[in-house]
This record gives sequence, structure tokens and C-alpha cells, in this order.
Amino acid sequence: MDWGMKNRMSRLIKPEDGRAVWLAVDHGYFLGPLSKLEEPAQTIKPLLPYTDALMLTRGVLRNCVDAGLDIPVILRVSGGNSIVGPALSNEAIQTSVEEAIRLNASAVAFSIYIGTEHEHQTLIALGNLVSEAERYGIPVLAVTAVGKELQKRDARYLGLCCRIAAELGARMVKTYYCEDFERVVKSCPVPLVVAGGPKLKTKMDALRLAHAAVNEGARGVDMGRNIWQADNAVGVIKAIRKIVHDNASVKEAAKLL
Ligand code: R5P
Repeated sequence: MDWGMKNRMSRLIKPEDGRAVWLAVDHGYFLGPLSKLEEPAQTIKPLLPYTDALMLTRGVLRNCVDAGLDIPVILRVSGGNSIVGPALSNEAIQTSVEEAIRLNASAVAFSIYIGTEHEHQTLIALGNLVSEAERYGIPVLAVTAVGKELQKRDARYLGLCCRIAAELGARMVKTYYCEDFERVVKSCPVPLVVAGGPKLKTKMDALRLAHAAVNEGARGVDMGRNIWQADNAVGVIKAIRKIVHDNASVKEAAKLL
């Protein structure tokens, strides 16, 4: 691995413990101004001290984040779909690698939609993105998207998606936690992080999810709604950090809520 790639990867996944807490605030690219992310700058600011990396689009980065930011950026480069459009899976590259370099991104993120009518399109685009980003030492994070079909989140399907993403060259994969998650981790040769998905019933559920995921082999989380849609977002991210970086139990971490 070249120095630039190694350096970017080590800014994202902390070399001290091989773990990561990333804050995902890229949802607006297809969901628009969803609840608690209507004004991204306000949502993001208090959470920054507890975040290892920020995942977002170029629009929110330029307009809502101070350029003095000392936290690596994972730039969402796929899109072209919307929640009211005909197919959520119809994504393509909407931000170039050149733009990612201009924005000093540490990684670029791209969603793949396996098992949908746009499977081929998103997989070929992922492969092409990897070929281009690798030229500049920029890691690609593949996101195993399920669109509205949340029930797809089982080990067989996610294992398939993660493995294909890694085979096509993604340096890291973001997926969902599921029953039998260890199976997904075992068959994926690159680091995995988990998304939180739609807001769970309680904050404790979010902590349980993070705890189970890292204990079953995830490197950490790339979490959004379960952090910033919570009534005590700072408490939640602190508790998640404690679980991911300090191997805290859910009970111990919950004291930070
Ligand atoms: C999809 O909207 C994005 O890829 C999110 O970054 C991802 O789903 C993680 O956010 P959440 O924890 O809210 O699912």
C-alpha cells in the first residue's frame, strides 16, 4: 500500500485500536431535509469533538462545515436518486474524484444496489471509481444499500454484497448489522463498519447494536440517525465512542447518555 493510501486509511481507522466512529450526515442527497438534519451545520457542530470522520456530500461540506476542520472527510460521491423518484437504486457518480481531491477528502463513498435492476450499473461504477481513486491513493468505501427494502438485511444477502464490494476493490465496506453478523465479517477481506439504519426504539438499542457489531468483528460505526435524531445526540455519540474505542459494555457506556 502506498504512503498516501496508508495515511488516509489510518486517519479513518485509528491505528491504536483498529476501530472507528464516523458520523454519517450524507442522508440529504436523496432524502432532502430530513428530521434533525434540516440545518446540517447545527446538527454537526456539537458532535465533531467525538467523531473520527465525517461522511457527507460536497454541498454540505462546503456550506455547513468550517474549512478549518481537522477531521477526515468521507465524501459521498454517488447519487442521482430521490425518495420520491421511481427507483432508489438508480444511483451513479455525481461527484468526481478530482472534486474529492480538491475537497481534501480522505475517502470517497459509493452505494451499490445488489439484486436490483441497477445492480450492474452500480457495480461497474464502483469498479471504475476504485480504478480512478486508487490512482490518487484515495480509498473507496462501498455502501451496501438496501433502499426501502430494509427486510433484505440478513447475513446471506449482506455477506454477498460485502464480498462483491471487496472483490471489486473497495478498501472498506459499510453495511448493516444483522443476525449472524460474524459470517458477514468472516467472508469480507476488508474492514467493515456498520450503519445504524432508521432510528431504533431507544438509545439503548443503538448502543446494543454498536456493541454487538464491534464484538462480532466490525471496525466500528458510520452512524447517523440513531445519533443525531436522539434527544441527547452528544450523549449517544460519547457512549458509542466508549463502546467502540474503550470496549465498554452497554451498561457502562449508558452512563454517558
Ligand atoms: C444513507 O443514507 C447513508 O449512506 C447513511 O450514511 C447511512 O445509512 C448511515 O446512516 P444511518 O446510521 O442513519 O443509517
